[in-house]
Amino acid sequence: MCGVVGYIGGRDAVPVLINGLTKLEYRGYDSAGVAVLNDGRINICKTKGRIQNLQDKLLVNPLQGHVGIGHTRWATHGVPSDENAHPHPSGDRKIAVVHNGIIENYMEFKEELEAKGYKFLSETDTETVANLIDDYYRSGMDILDAVFKVLDRIEGSYALGVLCSDFPDQLIAARKDSPLVVGIGDGENFIASDMPAILNYTKNVYLLDDKEVALIKADSVKIFDADRNEVKKDVFTFDWDIEAAEKNGYDHFMLKEIFEQPKVVKDNLSRRFDSNGKVTLDGIKLGKEELANINRIYICACGTAYYAGLIGKYLIERMVRIPVNSEMASEFRYKEPLIDDKTLMIVVSQSGETADTLAAMRLAKEKGARVMGIVNAVGSSIAREADDVLYTLAGPEIAVASTKAFSAQVVAMYLLTIHLAQELGKMDEKTTMEIKGYMEELPSLVNNILAKVPVIQRLTQKYIGSKNVFYIGRGLDYIVGMEGSLKLKEIAYLHSEPYAAGELKHGPIALIEDTTLVVGIVTQEELFEKTVSNIREVKARGARVLAIAMEGNKEIEKYADDVFYIPRTHWMLAPLLANIPQQLFAYYMALGLGNDVDKPRNLAKSVTVE
Ligand code: M6R
Repeated sequence: MCGVVGYIGGRDAVPVLINGLTKLEYRGYDSAGVAVLNDGRINICKTKGRIQNLQDKLLVNPLQGHVGIGHTRWATHGVPSDENAHPHPSGDRKIAVVHNGIIENYMEFKEELEAKGYKFLSETDTETVANLIDDYYRSGMDILDAVFKVLDRIEGSYALGVLCSDFPDQLIAARKDSPLVVGIGDGENFIASDMPAILNYTKNVYLLDDKEVALIKADSVKIFDADRNEVKKDVFTFDWDIEAAEKNGYDHFMLKEIFEQPKVVKDNLSRRFDSNGKVTLDGIKLGKEELANINRIYICACGTAYYAGLIGKYLIERMVRIPVNSEMASEFRYKEPLIDDKTLMIVVSQSGETADTLAAMRLAKEKGARVMGIVNAVGSSIAREADDVLYTLAGPEIAVASTKAFSAQVVAMYLLTIHLAQELGKMDEKTTMEIKGYMEELPSLVNNILAKVPVIQRLTQKYIGSKNVFYIGRGLDYIVGMEGSLKLKEIAYLHSEPYAAGELKHGPIALIEDTTLVVGIVTQEELFEKTVSNIREVKARGARVLAIAMEGNKEIEKYADDVFYIPRTHWMLAPLLANIPQQLFAYYMALGLGNDVDKPRNLAKSVTVE
């Protein structure tokens, strides 16, 4: 939810911190700040608003020093304000802390500290951590022991960066249930919530595990487990290019990421099929024998990843003929799910750090399930904790609205379905080869759709005054409408609902009026006639209809006001293609409405708190 960055080394810390924060701004952007240690003093500059506001403030009051921490915030405790912005100092500024996560039991400590005379300037949980470390340190503990003592007492999640003015040559970092890496440089080291923040300086990192604490100096990094034993970790090298985290001439990351999809789809298909059409998924060890031992499958995720999971459920049930429960991770834990050692739990996540998805996965693991992660972020918590990992190879996704990661997840669902069907003898070679042929065309078909941006721009201009937008369809078309509707909500701030077309008459049709836009998705030919009758019903009640159909379907033109055609493909691959115009529609709608596409209000990229 928030972005944490830290630096120690020979450079001026502030430019490094600002550069890192700019790359992390997608994680939260309601306030930002930096703390730098110089001449035995911690100096802090922080402000409500975007990183640009912080930069403006730093121009007036520049800070210097070679060790520092920075933060960009997505508010949890307390409104966005200068006071609530991080870093938070202890009362006497001996300690300064940046924090991502939530300290659930902070009130307990706050009262305890207030009784000792500590004054609090903010409404945050984080300020309590700074003062609590200070309190233990003042009682005579070593600074590292004081940090450990606090970590023993706090409950919740954290990625922490800590400075102490008595130790100008070190910074301390710790994590639990919130991502944090230690970047390794030459005579300099870093901490960051996410790799893009330090990609300009290094690709080598230590991936901190839960409850680990790092003591970081310019030329050394020591990592300790919760029992304070030093642990030796392997260096992990990211193979991402710096350009992957830059806009490269596009106006927004979202647009850049939409246009990266032909490559993303291609990369995800590369080397997956052998010449006989057999699918091999590196990292997945689910053969006939393992599958024989599984009697229940869950697919669990949040938001866009959840919709990719719904596509997986639909395809596995229809093509492999085994039942699959698809669950929102935020609900999963609270329904006493039926899990045992015969359960296969598949979790889907771009970030690999979503708190609810991680918690659902841990619950399943604890109860003996085999856990498969379909994950984009390499080295993320889900990737590290899952038994099997299928990486979605989309590269860093920076825009809050997920686009290319969804396409990559959908391709993963296609491959997984075929793999399971082949292992269980449910798909013959002829069918596989046919689907393989269609799949190989996908990158160029996505390109064909992207070439039709002017058509989408014209459609958004036409429909920009709509007050409500319904996305309707049946089967896979309904699922893809869910994703289209989410995109429109999150960046265009337009009220929109996905509805199974056949359900309209059971209530929501009462909402249809002449300011309503209905996006009718009709790529599934066997369901076409049924959805068309629902389209006619909404037309009869004044709605305007924009249809998404496969090329060659001229019939739909009789009923819809406009039709966006996607290239013809196999029915199971249509969701991937039908979603591309939905992404562009949401993008241009948001632009037309003057919204900040990459940083939509109230949202952050990774939801690392419940
Ligand atoms: O990182 P994850 O895939 O686990 O994130 C899940 C959702 O938070 C995410 O898909 C969210 O719904 C996006 N903002 C949608 O565009």
